[in-house]
Amino acid sequence: MEKKNIDWASIGFGYMPTDKRYVSLYKDGAWDQGALVDDPNIVLNECACVLQYAQTCFEGLKAYTTEDGRTVCFRPDLNAERMYDTAKRLEMPPFPKDRFVEAVKQVIKANEAWVPPYGSGATLYLRPYMFGSNAVIGVKPADEYQFRILTTPVGPYFKGGVKPITLCVSDFDRAAPHGTGHIKAGLNYAMSLHPIVEAHKAGFDENMYLDAATRTKVEETGGANFLFVTKDNKVVTPKSNSILPSITRRSLMVVAKEYLGLEVEEREVYFDEVKDFAECGLCGTAAVISPVGKIVDHGKEICFPSGMTEMGPTISKLRDTLTGIQMGKIEGPEGWIVEI
Ligand code: PLP
Ligand code: COI
Repeated sequence: MEKKNIDWASIGFGYMPTDKRYVSLYKDGAWDQGALVDDPNIVLNECACVLQYAQTCFEGLKAYTTEDGRTVCFRPDLNAERMYDTAKRLEMPPFPKDRFVEAVKQVIKANEAWVPPYGSGATLYLRPYMFGSNAVIGVKPADEYQFRILTTPVGPYFKGGVKPITLCVSDFDRAAPHGTGHIKAGLNYAMSLHPIVEAHKAGFDENMYLDAATRTKVEETGGANFLFVTKDNKVVTPKSNSILPSITRRSLMVVAKEYLGLEVEEREVYFDEVKDFAECGLCGTAAVISPVGKIVDHGKEICFPSGMTEMGPTISKLRDTLTGIQMGKIEGPEGWIVEI
């Protein structure tokens, strides 16, 4: 497969239209058979439910070229499952999980020339998404929906690649205790736009959100879960019903335990304990695992011993092992790698 002539190493996390996208339409109570299409644009009624009441959700996963030239993707069954759960919470008709995985395979195959070469530092990002498309004016779910998958080659999510980043503790809440923080609803990201613009203006890379009820516990950032490493090398991740169950985080906990032989703990993490950790990272499909060097809480700085120039040793091992599995250098647990 001849790859597109792109300077892969210099691309950031942006949108670049590729050759094909997948579309399936829901009407009269059923999903149609779906197809790959060329047009990246969508024509919608002015009163479409997604435009008026934000009835939309999405997923994110990546396709990789392995060292021996195969094209693979990572745990698409878990994205299928999470989107299924999200759709139910948003009163949308869930897209069947087996068809989701099939559509992922089809759209990667059709855009194989856009899957960046092994070792380039870039990957093909897949964005499955779904929205209510027919006109509604009273507040109620739509009757018609589109399920789509777009693909775009991407580089690192944070500028500077794998250099440690700086977070600020946000005064805004990301999710309510019985709200939608645990699903991938577009509305969660709409609410994060103002806080992220403010954080960037103040010179920070991202926000750390605390739990809305008590503002004492660590939740997550706008687009990634937290992983901490204790001074005695235990991997700790916050447990909460209002954070997104990150597939990367769940995978890294398995990597930490099964591949690196580390003790792992998923539990409530109080903000007061953060200063005692040795390393901190943000994990997600886009973020992979990005090291955090510093967290600023209203002017008070927490500086991790791993510093602002290098990734800490444990986060670095976790990252190498996970990306090694994703790129076919290390044998992954059964079912993690799906060949296209
Ligand atoms: N948390 C939020 C709010 C996210 O948007 C994402 C991205 O998908 C994640 C965590 C990481 O999840 P995953 O590892 O499944 O990509
Ligand atoms: C992902 O990691 O796939 C996400 O959806 C996060 C998003 C903020 C880019």
